[in-house]
Amino acid sequence: MKLTDRIDIGGGVAVSPAALGAMNFGTTTSREDAFAVLDMYVGAGGNFIDTSNNYAHWAGTGDESETLLGEWLESRGCRDDVVIATKVGFDRHGTGAGLRREQIEYWAGESLRKLRTDRIDVYYAHTDDTSTPLGETAEAFASLVREGKVRLLGCSNFDTWRVADATAEAERRGLPGYRVMQQRFTYLYARSDMAPKYIFNETAGRERLRFLYDRKMPLVAYSSTARGGYADPSRLPPDLIAGKRYDFLRMTACELGVGAGALAVAWMANLYRVPGMPRVIPLFSSSKPEHLKENLAGVELELSDGLLDELCRA
Ligand SMILES: NC(=O)c1ccc[n+]([C@@H]2O[C@H](COP(=O)([O-])OP(=O)(O)OC[C@H]3O[C@@H](n4cnc5c(N)ncnc54)[C@H](OP(=O)(O)O)[C@@H]3O)[C@@H](O)[C@H]2O)c1
Repeated sequence: MKLTDRIDIGGGVAVSPAALGAMNFGTTTSREDAFAVLDMYVGAGGNFIDTSNNYAHWAGTGDESETLLGEWLESRGCRDDVVIATKVGFDRHGTGAGLRREQIEYWAGESLRKLRTDRIDVYYAHTDDTSTPLGETAEAFASLVREGKVRLLGCSNFDTWRVADATAEAERRGLPGYRVMQQRFTYLYARSDMAPKYIFNETAGRERLRFLYDRKMPLVAYSSTARGGYADPSRLPPDLIAGKRYDFLRMTACELGVGAGALAVAWMANLYRVPGMPRVIPLFSSSKPEHLKENLAGVELELSDGLLDELCRA
């Protein structure tokens, strides 16, 4: 597989096999570093860039990431060459959470303005809103698709049964439903004795993967390089199980002469070859082009059936 390959995820949207996260761009990652990382990713053949209407509000106002991306898109004149994904529905300094019609309309307008574009390629519901009827949310998203402001809908941090319910409601109304899911996922398993830091932030497990396979929905896997924890054990999030699987990954990467993050990326990008597994598009980020380059190398790594199997069983 090559980074220049394209995967059709529906709605006429074709994405590279690894996505770039822009969450910290403009806040903890400086404008200069963010532009360098974006240039490096696109220069290497990537086209799938991820942001949100609230990034990164915990370190600023929540407008920084989309605003920086808008400036970068304009300065590089590359809007038609990239797929921009953004999100709505999460908190921004105590406001903004929810998927009511007026919220979706307002925040879509804000995202388009900040991104300096006339369309969002992939628009995610960032987290579930159980207090708004599913039909209201579906109608609001469908209006955006009808107006050409959004090409494809996705959801993130939803329980799978809620995705099934939302899909059924959209189908009943003849409206477009969620076609792609974004969820935390990486090579290591999550510890069952330790809740994720936030309730929404669950690592995709077997049930979710089987659901996605059944629904033919790709998984865009966030925090897929375990926040740098493959390269540097001190960065590994504590709710992931290290142990033998971790040791096997790091040892094998060393034998292959690649970074352990790259091997984790290779495993995710090739998981669709395992019967019953969905297409996974690893989504990761960095403030440093050299770290990004190291992890992107995983996309091009050829995994034999035997090694893929060994990695799955470890
Ligand atoms: N839907 C959601 O709720 C949700 C939640 C979280 C994130 N996301 C999306 O997913 C994207 C990625 O998420 P993430 O930042 O959590 O995951 P990540 O890409 O797994 O982690 C990024 C971190 O890993 C470090 N890193 C990467 N490669 C490294 C290396 N070779 N050596 C040392 N450190 C390395 C980076 O540090 P350096 O900067 O030093 O390289 C950075 O701190 C975000 O930008 C966002 O778009 C979505």
